[in-house]
Amino acid sequence: MKLSIDFPTEVVREGKTSVVVPRLEAYVKEVWEYAPSKAPVFYNPAMELNRDVAVLALQTYQRTVDKEISVCEPLAGCGIRGVRFAIEVEGIRKLVLNDINSEAAKLAKLNAERNNLAERVLVMNEDANLLLSRYAAPRKRFDSIDVDPFGSPAPYLDSAVRALRDGGLLALTATDMAPLSGVHPKACVRKYGGKPLRTGYCHELAVRLLIGSLTMTAAKHGIGIEVVFSHSTDHYIRAYAVFHRGAKQADNSVRKMGYVLHCFNCFHRETSKGILPPWKRECTECGSKLNVAGPLWLGKIFDEEFSVLMEGEVAGRNLGQEKKILKLLSLAKSEAEAPITYYAIDKICDKLNLRIPPLTKTMDELRGAGFQAVPTHFNSRGIRTDAPISVLKALIRRLVQT
Ligand SMILES: C[S@@+](CC[C@H](N)C(=O)[O-])C[C@H]1O[C@@H](n2cnc3c(N)ncnc32)[C@H](O)[C@@H]1O
Ligand SMILES: [Zn+2]
Repeated sequence: MKLSIDFPTEVVREGKTSVVVPRLEAYVKEVWEYAPSKAPVFYNPAMELNRDVAVLALQTYQRTVDKEISVCEPLAGCGIRGVRFAIEVEGIRKLVLNDINSEAAKLAKLNAERNNLAERVLVMNEDANLLLSRYAAPRKRFDSIDVDPFGSPAPYLDSAVRALRDGGLLALTATDMAPLSGVHPKACVRKYGGKPLRTGYCHELAVRLLIGSLTMTAAKHGIGIEVVFSHSTDHYIRAYAVFHRGAKQADNSVRKMGYVLHCFNCFHRETSKGILPPWKRECTECGSKLNVAGPLWLGKIFDEEFSVLMEGEVAGRNLGQEKKILKLLSLAKSEAEAPITYYAIDKICDKLNLRIPPLTKTMDELRGAGFQAVPTHFNSRGIRTDAPISVLKALIRRLVQT
């Protein structure tokens, strides 16, 4: 592979790593153009937080398994994520980076070489599914795979599942929020096998639909999943899951699939466990018709201990998005054991034609009345609580009218 790069580039720094990337200003002719997809090789500076969190999660995972690990990034673009892993995560024995675009593969190789990583980092230039399939045999599989595509990871799920070893960590990005958040429901059913719903908490449903799709794909291969972390940030969602091989483990995961039933009239919502469609269609609070999202994952979407360990990895890493990440991790910790779905308080107040009450006060009052109540990273105006909607509405009225 010849490593001469003949398009405009520049050097950028993320974390403790410096890499060569396309100089984005050189490719944008009009202000509305989206620079990352205009450049000959994909690079998106806006995904820095995504990569920062990926570094923390991979390091946390490596320390948990306490051995040297092999990692694959099958859609690597300019290689910034993979090269960051090699430099910033301790205990990586081998890294395979790959991109179907030969210019991207060249740049990723250059970035590996200029960081003296040639011995540990292998750069390939082929279709991601082909590459992953070649690593799908027992003993060839990776300890961790990070699937970070344009749009949906759905086309790569099957081969990523086959190429991950028992106990391995799979990370998935999805940027196709229009299908996942219910703007294009048919596309969501097609790609993820579940129906979305355009509710105030549609981003949480998006994470649950993505994980639901992973659950069913892994189950086909006799694998159960344990979700250790997830987040919804800007225009994308991420999920991190550890694999456990065995039919029993797969059955246990499938048991965590189900549906979310939502009332657009009064904001009541409830869950229905199991793969069979829910029979119940009437809202218990107001009698209106309930809408259904799913099948999707009803299990945990964060692990408190994993989030605490990730938090412990932040200091001294020179993360560009450190403040935002600490906030995200702190919220994730408190969300881990909280009820499924949150109430978007602004949406409720909008419908009730009321001012938005102070959220901290609202949560204090809910807790005082014996309910769980925590904020959520999904929405700065969201509250996770087990209080019924009628209680929440009465409280909001009292808080804004006194
Ligand atoms: C969103 S970019 C990757 C960004 C990178 N992971 C990062 O963190 O900067 C997606 C990449 O997938 C590559 N790609 C698209 N289809 C592919 C395929 N079938 N196999 C391998 N790579 C593919 C594109 O060339 C592009 O570089
Ligand atoms: Zn209702």
